[in-house]
Amino acid sequence: MFGSEMLTLFAAFALFHVTNAVIAPTVELNDGNKIPLLALGTGRGTAKESESVDQVRQAVYWAIEAGYRHIDTAAIYFDEEQVGKGIAQAIADKLVTRNELFVTTKLWNDRHRQEQVVPALKESLQKLGLDYVDLYLIHFPVATKSDGSLDNVDYIETWKGMEKAKGLGLTRSIGVSNFNASQIERLIAHSTICPAVNEIEVNPTLTQVALINYLQLKNIIPMGYSPFGFLVSRSKENAPPPRADDPALVKIAQKYGKTTSQVVLRYLFDRSIIPIPKSTNKDRIKQNIDIFDFSLTNEEVATINRFNKNIRVINPVDWKNSPYYPFVEY
Ligand SMILES: NC(=O)c1ccc[n+]([C@@H]2O[C@H](COP(=O)([O-])OP(=O)(O)OC[C@H]3O[C@@H](n4cnc5c(N)ncnc54)[C@H](OP(=O)(O)O)[C@@H]3O)[C@@H](O)[C@H]2O)c1
Repeated sequence: MFGSEMLTLFAAFALFHVTNAVIAPTVELNDGNKIPLLALGTGRGTAKESESVDQVRQAVYWAIEAGYRHIDTAAIYFDEEQVGKGIAQAIADKLVTRNELFVTTKLWNDRHRQEQVVPALKESLQKLGLDYVDLYLIHFPVATKSDGSLDNVDYIETWKGMEKAKGLGLTRSIGVSNFNASQIERLIAHSTICPAVNEIEVNPTLTQVALINYLQLKNIIPMGYSPFGFLVSRSKENAPPPRADDPALVKIAQKYGKTTSQVVLRYLFDRSIIPIPKSTNKDRIKQNIDIFDFSLTNEEVATINRFNKNIRVINPVDWKNSPYYPFVEY
């Protein structure tokens, strides 16, 4: 559960319904900024062939309309422009102000040299049509050259560029993604600013109990990507359980009058992890934020934890030879 301080904030920012919109609670980051505890994913790794990048613009608009205040994008998703258009339209239609939104984007691996960070963020800002983002993340600890081959830039150097970007006001907070505990420990030892967030994969098949415990000890907020794991879009024949019709999940879902997808998102939230569900479907976008009127018991969280197999959806094995490859430990 989010800590007692966080729970106070939870109460202060408890969800409220405004014209059918569900607003997620917020929590304070270790730098004093506030982050909404659910984000719309805009990565297109699960997009169907028929899905155009313009659907991201529409999804962002629908999400803001449904109450989302946090949008997760990245330079490598090549959709920052569409995210920006969705945001601009929502602001123009007075659904929201820029101040009420929290926008996260990420630095790609081929811009890891210290002097490349600020220009990379400026390019993202231009595409997004924004003066600042709320959170800028190092997408992976691994550095690559522009041709995709491995490079040997140390993420400590990259972090110096991130600190500069924050100092310039181009981002309110800085953090990392896909870092393991040793890498964060090393980063903290060599830096002035502690990362506010680590965005990592979390779902029933990859519960990340040890890493989450570590992050919470360090007051670093975990964001959980690919929250559905193999539940829905990746439920191919040989994919590990659970699937959407898993009896254990169905039983919990029926108890609360929710779908198994909502139960899995709430499972992350009840473990103090910010879920980042991606959807470009209007009804599923609404469904995915409608998780703040119930909570799982400790036993139900434990039931879902038992699905853990330490199997990753995102497993970039091509980078295994990098000295900074993160997935050598859990
Ligand atoms: N930092 C990183 O390295 C990293 C890596 C991967 C992802 N991410 C972020 O995390 C986000 C989410 O991860 P993801 O896109 O890999 O996977 P995900 O959110 O776990 O799954 C997305 C898939 O689930 C479907 N879906 C969404 N809501 C549903 C519901 N209520 N019922 C049934 N199906 C549903 C979506 O289809 P429809 O769109 O048709 O609804 C889509 O096919 C990304 O978009 C990205 O922003 C970050």
